[in-house]
Amino acid sequence: MKIAVCYNRVPDLVRKGEAGDRISEAGAELQAAAVSAALSELGHVPHLVPLGGELASFIRDLQTVRPTVVFNLCEGFWGDSRKEMHVAALLELLGYAYTGASPFCLGLTQDKVRTKELLVHHQLPTPPYLVVAPGEALPASVKLTFPLIVKPRSEDASLGVTAESVVAGRQKLLERIAYIHATYRQAALVEEFIAGRELNVAVLGDGVAEVLPCSEIRFRPGLPHPIVSYAGKWLEDSPEYKGTVPVCPAPLRLSERILAKEVALRAYKVLECRDYARIDIRLRGGIPYILEINANPDISPEAGLARSARAAGLSYPQLIERILTMAVERKEPHDA
Ligand SMILES: Nc1ncnc2c1ncn2[C@@H]1O[C@H](COP(=O)(O)OP(=O)(O)O)[C@@H](O)[C@H]1O
Ligand SMILES: [Mg+2]
Repeated sequence: MKIAVCYNRVPDLVRKGEAGDRISEAGAELQAAAVSAALSELGHVPHLVPLGGELASFIRDLQTVRPTVVFNLCEGFWGDSRKEMHVAALLELLGYAYTGASPFCLGLTQDKVRTKELLVHHQLPTPPYLVVAPGEALPASVKLTFPLIVKPRSEDASLGVTAESVVAGRQKLLERIAYIHATYRQAALVEEFIAGRELNVAVLGDGVAEVLPCSEIRFRPGLPHPIVSYAGKWLEDSPEYKGTVPVCPAPLRLSERILAKEVALRAYKVLECRDYARIDIRLRGGIPYILEINANPDISPEAGLARSARAAGLSYPQLIERILTMAVERKEPHDA
């Protein structure tokens, strides 16, 4: 089968965020190469099709390849992660079958606040929170229990998450909210800090979904805070990276495992995920609090989702084949 493996490039100059944030984007090319290698191993014919800042050549490249399916690894458009949904929408309009979430799901899950509103509506646990948009003032009395954590409303890959994100008092909270507004040009999401174990729960499926073995992110003692900070995720030489260690399958009590999987599966359905997703959870007092839903997570061989798949007995090429098959089977008869 001829398959276009699409991923997005980023401009040299990003319009917002920290200069170092670009490191997280360099992984896209490696991820695309790993998926292509798996597809070749499966006997398919992959073509890498990068998406730059110019649509016409991307569309032309796709039309030249004439793929049966597009493997969509795009996480945004030209440095703007909020346009992740637009790329899936473009593929849809062009009539291609493509892997992964719909534009609607990508748009919803990109917005951590909308996601939390839906989770709350469906009585799924998520940390108590408030939102401060640029230009808005923090309420005089904050009805959350310190310490709190401050994140950008619509980023991923731990962008804007550092040791300073965790704040113990009002003054630091105000400073961090101002930092998010100035640097990331969006609302600040302020949540209660859930001091507890962190789990990544991967789900596979379209309609009928399967939860893979939970992965735990362990934090070695000595880190400024036990969180997946930007350094902990991306800067391989940093103490944070060395002190952030995944363990899969996570050693959990049966009741914790059942509850974490149940909550992850319900969130997958509520947010209308399909093919694959990873749900980030923090456990406290036996309750699995959902931090966020990654509807388009990293599927590199060394990332969390593939690690959980391996623990479930799925090799990397088998995982890629599963995802591909779901997209092929979704293809509507009129574009067959
Ligand atoms: N409410 C919270 N309590 C404790 N830690 C948190 C909380 N929210 C985020 N974190 C930490 O910050 C990391 C990144 O936050 P997350 O919401 O997953 O955003 P991203 O999209 O950047 O991955 C998490 O993996 C976790 O370690
Ligand atoms: Mg996360």
